[in-house]
Amino acid sequence: MKIKKVLVTGGAGYIGSHTCVELLQEGYDVVCADNFVNSSPIAMDRVAQITGKTIPVHELDFCDYPAVKKFFTNETVDAVIHFAGHKAVGESVENPLKYYENNLLSLINLCKAMGKDIRKNLVFSSSATVYGFPDQLPIEEDSPVDSFNPYGRTKLFIEQILQDIWATDNAWNISILRYFNPVAAHPSGLIGEDPAGIPNNLMPYIAQVAIGRLERLRIFGADYDTPDGTGVRDFIHVVDLAKGHVAAMRKLETSPGLMVHNLGTGRGYSVLELVNTFAEVNNVQVPYEIVGRRPGDVAANYASTDKAKKELGWEAQCGIRQMVLDTWNWQSKNPNGYSFD
Ligand code: UFG
Repeated sequence: MKIKKVLVTGGAGYIGSHTCVELLQEGYDVVCADNFVNSSPIAMDRVAQITGKTIPVHELDFCDYPAVKKFFTNETVDAVIHFAGHKAVGESVENPLKYYENNLLSLINLCKAMGKDIRKNLVFSSSATVYGFPDQLPIEEDSPVDSFNPYGRTKLFIEQILQDIWATDNAWNISILRYFNPVAAHPSGLIGEDPAGIPNNLMPYIAQVAIGRLERLRIFGADYDTPDGTGVRDFIHVVDLAKGHVAAMRKLETSPGLMVHNLGTGRGYSVLELVNTFAEVNNVQVPYEIVGRRPGDVAANYASTDKAKKELGWEAQCGIRQMVLDTWNWQSKNPNGYSFD
C-alpha cells in the first residue's frame, strides 16, 4: 500500500524533527503530534524554514486516550512513526513508574486508536539498549535481548507488545528500529539536540563544555577493555538516522510484516576519540577529567549493519568529522538551544 501521509509522534523532539525534514523532502505529507514536555514548538518553525513547508502540529499527549481517539477521528494518516516517550536512563531508575506509565501507555493508546483503522503501518523507535551487555560484536538483530534499567525495559516490553499485536492481526505492518548513539544536527544548524537541564549523553555534554556552559567533561572510566580504555560507541548522525526511518517506511509499503533493524554505522569510536576529534576539527577546547565508571555502562557496542543494508537499502553516510562539525554548528548558532534567555 502506498504511504502518503505520515503522523510523527514526538515530531518536535530531537530525532522527530530531523525525521519530519527528511519526510517532507521526500514528498510525504506530514502531521506532527507532540506534548512539548521535552521539546519546543520552535523546532517546528525551524523545520518549516528548512523545507519551505508548514505542517500541522497538534499538541497531544498520547497518555490521554480520549484525545488520541479524537485525533484519529479527525485525521486520516497512512502510517505512524512513534518517537514520543521519555528517554533518560538515570531518571528512569529514579522514577520507574513515570517511565512505565508514559512509554507503555502512550504506545498502547496509539495502537488501540490505530487498530480501529485499516492503515496499521507503524515505525517504532527502539534502542540498542535492548541488547543489554552484548556478548558479541558487532551486534546482530538476532542477538539475545535484555535490559538493566526501566527505560530499556520499556523499549523491550514495547517490542514484545508489537510482536504480540502483529501475531494476532497481520493487518499490522511494523518496523522496529534499534538506534545506536544518535548525535549531531541538521547541517543548516537550525534544528539539533536541546536536552533539558544538564545533558546525560556524551555529545551534547561535549558541545556545552566547548561553548562554556559547562566547565569540564567527566569521562566515565578509562579502564575498560578497549583500545584506549574509554567506552566505545557507534555514533550515528541524526540525519542518517532520520533517513533510515524513511527507508523503513518505504519497506513497509512493499514488504508487509514485522521487521527489526539496527540503525548504526557499524563502526565504534571511543569517548576519547570523539572528544579529541571534536576539539581538533572545530578548533575548540574541551577540558576533561577521567572519573570512575558510570554504573550500567557497557564497555563497547557497535551495530552489524548488514541487515539494514540488505533489506532497507539504507546505510549511514556521515563520518565522525561531519558529526562533530554539525554538532558545533548547531551549538554555536544556538548556544542556549531553542530558548533565548
Ligand atoms: N560518557 C562520559 N561522560 C558523560 C557522558 C557519557 O564519559 O558525561 C560516556 C559513557 O560512559 C559512555 C559514552 O560516553 O561510554 C556514551 O554515553 P551516552 O550517555 O552518550 O550514551 P549511552 O551509550 O550510554 O546510551 C545511549 C542512549 C540510550 C540508549 C543507548 C543505546 O543515551 O538512550 O545509547 O545503546 F539506550
